Amino acid sequence: MTDKIILPEHIGIIMDGNGRWAKKRGLPRNMGHKKGAEVFEKISRHCRDLGIKYLTVYAFSTENWKRPKEEIDGIMNLMRSYLKNMQKAAGDHIAVRFIGDRTPFDEDIKALIEEAENADIGEVITTVQIALNYGGRDEITHAVKEIAKKAAEGSLSPEDITEDMISANLYSASPEADLIIRPSGEERLSNFLLWESAYSEFVFMDVLWPDFTEKDLDAAIEEYSKRNRRFGGV
Ligand code: IPE
Ligand code: IPE
Ligand code: MG
Repeated sequence: MTDKIILPEHIGIIMDGNGRWAKKRGLPRNMGHKKGAEVFEKISRHCRDLGIKYLTVYAFSTENWKRPKEEIDGIMNLMRSYLKNMQKAAGDHIAVRFIGDRTPFDEDIKALIEEAENADIGEVITTVQIALNYGGRDEITHAVKEIAKKAAEGSLSPEDITEDMISANLYSASPEADLIIRPSGEERLSNFLLWESAYSEFVFMDVLWPDFTEKDLDAAIEEYSKRNRRFGGV
């Protein structure tokens, strides 16, 4: 990396391109997800080594239920094995949180998620937020419902609703995303971090997620460092 590197506090990654990676090799799509899961673990550790405070990864969207059952089952099984192995990595200074609606998951996955979130990982360097059954619109809808409950109970007047109140009721408990990276060549958000990306910098890359390396992350951070963030000012 060159000098003048500005580290983003919060990086979001849309882990896309697993299916195309597998197809190129004549493999089933789930082999792409398996390789993608390995890359996710490698990049989490790299973020920790760089001192990135928050990493949010898009693992499964509210729209991904449209996929064949076999593929969904494969993704859920990968999640199981990640969560089981993860507890063995206690002391790696990576805290894991899940964002999204976890109600439709199997009971064993829900229990593993809770265990992972409560694991003793020592001093926290990086908080990894895994967006699972996550949708930006669902997240905002959920927040609005929480606030509406208070209004209906009479403990909150609609005039007193603020942007901060909406932020505080989102699934994610991180600051807004500074940098959003999407590999695979697609240039869209696909319902990722809608509220939290109001002033994010975007870096789109042609590499497929299973081929993504630490160097690609470094390159994205370098690109981010050159951006001039104005937040509406001059
Ligand atoms: C991203 O890779 C992983 C999930 C959406 C679960 P894809 O499976 O979308 O890969 P492509 O876009 O088909 O290559
Ligand atoms: C976004 O990728 C969701 C994840 C990476 C988990 P998709 O592959 O589902 O997005 P589209 O369908 O190309 O927009
Ligand atoms: Mg895709």
